[in-house]
Amino acid sequence: MLDLPIHLDGAIRNQGRQVHAALRAAIVDGLLAPGLTLPSSRDLAAQLGVRRNAIVAAYEHLASDGLIEARHGAGTTVAERLPEPTPPAPAAAPRLAHAPVRARPFLLGQTGTDARLLRRLGGLVRRRIAGATADELGYGDPRGSAHLRAQVAAYLAANRGVRCDPECIAIVSGTQAAIRLCADALLPPGSRVWMEDPGYYATQATLRAAGLRLAPVPVDDAGLDVAAGARRAAGAKAVYVTPSHQFPTGVILAMRRRIELLDWARDSGAWIFEDDYDSEFRYAGPPLTALAGLGSGRVIYIGTFTKTLFASLRLAYVVLPPDVVGRVVAARAAHDRFPARFLQDAVADLIADGTLAAHVRRMRARYREARDATAAALRESAGDALRFTVPEQGLHLLALLPEGVSRATALAIRDAAEVEVRLLSDTQLTPRGPEGFILGFSGFESAALAAAARRIGRAAREIAGGAAQRSPTARRRVRHPTVPLE
Ligand SMILES: Cc1ncc(COP(=O)(O)O)c(C=O)c1O
Repeated sequence: MLDLPIHLDGAIRNQGRQVHAALRAAIVDGLLAPGLTLPSSRDLAAQLGVRRNAIVAAYEHLASDGLIEARHGAGTTVAERLPEPTPPAPAAAPRLAHAPVRARPFLLGQTGTDARLLRRLGGLVRRRIAGATADELGYGDPRGSAHLRAQVAAYLAANRGVRCDPECIAIVSGTQAAIRLCADALLPPGSRVWMEDPGYYATQATLRAAGLRLAPVPVDDAGLDVAAGARRAAGAKAVYVTPSHQFPTGVILAMRRRIELLDWARDSGAWIFEDDYDSEFRYAGPPLTALAGLGSGRVIYIGTFTKTLFASLRLAYVVLPPDVVGRVVAARAAHDRFPARFLQDAVADLIADGTLAAHVRRMRARYREARDATAAALRESAGDALRFTVPEQGLHLLALLPEGVSRATALAIRDAAEVEVRLLSDTQLTPRGPEGFILGFSGFESAALAAAARRIGRAAREIAGGAAQRSPTARRRVRHPTVPLE
């Protein structure tokens, strides 16, 4: 009798399934050759110590899989034609290129948790799922929930100076999703796109992934240098800007630049992607009017709930000029269509009953305190090794190192301080000027931020201060530029 090289898996409860799994693996892995005659069900049952009808069931199952053949009078054989043996399964998934970020101070993109808000949102989500109509459980309008679109339109008119028809709004799962969608729908592959330099690394990646070519345009203390863009890449088909709070410098796009940009877009037929990501958190006076509020059919306005609520929600919105709504909506079918409907409706409820506005007011006070704690601790610990302006808006602060301090030194400071900061050079397409740290202050308690700010301030003084003083060339170059700060 042939002893088969198989082992039963005790974790499978049913004997027939155990035998089936063991024989299938042996056949697929090439341990049992095509055409091999298998033992009778009686013999195999004896070899494996299982009931005979478990073997009968397993043979029937393998025959319907096409892995064995039962021939009358000739017994049961392994099928003649089998796929190539599969290589053994990898023990673990391959390591991701991106190291997971650690939730340590100054991680960007982390907002404060607020139990009251989460309870309320949880209740609304439950209600929206439990009470969903057949219509709400289906595919529906590719622009997303009409309820949320109406709430967003009213919010934008009241707070951002953007007047739009809810029919021109599409709900998307984040700012990058909005950019990718519009790029796919509106820009020919290979088009050039002006990109703020320095600028938001996620958008750089999205535009590249969409097959577009980045044209770096410098940012100075009035924001995007429109004349430089026109000189360097006049034929660009689009521009990405953060006019209310340039990422990462914090500069506000000056009115003369706004007008130049709108004129350039109108004359050249280019699209303006306005990323308005943190305007709800302005600490000095009311929010600034959005570029889209100045009125132009060329601005595609993008807002997000990542800062007002939290990043894992994956909800954002895009306001489209009326003449492109059809094209963008058609492109949605090839994307994700829209984020979960019940979530959209629950967030719309949160806006409609005033909960979101109250939450933003509470968080604005918390973030202002976090910003001040961070700034005070940096000022007291860093001496002149870090220079920064306290931001009047947003959830991050840019601290510049003296000129001449390298990226490697900045990384050493980051490691010594055990913080999670992005480097200014991560955002630059063209390396220039001083290195710096982008400190997110919205996701942590003030005491933890102050302690971390003292660590990074001291490390900057010890490592960068020392390096600058030791090198005669660096000593000459230890000065702080006036741009790109506000
Ligand atoms: C410049 C900028 N835009 C947009 C976002 C938000 O992106 P999303 O809506 O994809 O979460 C962020 C978040 O940190 C940001 O820094």
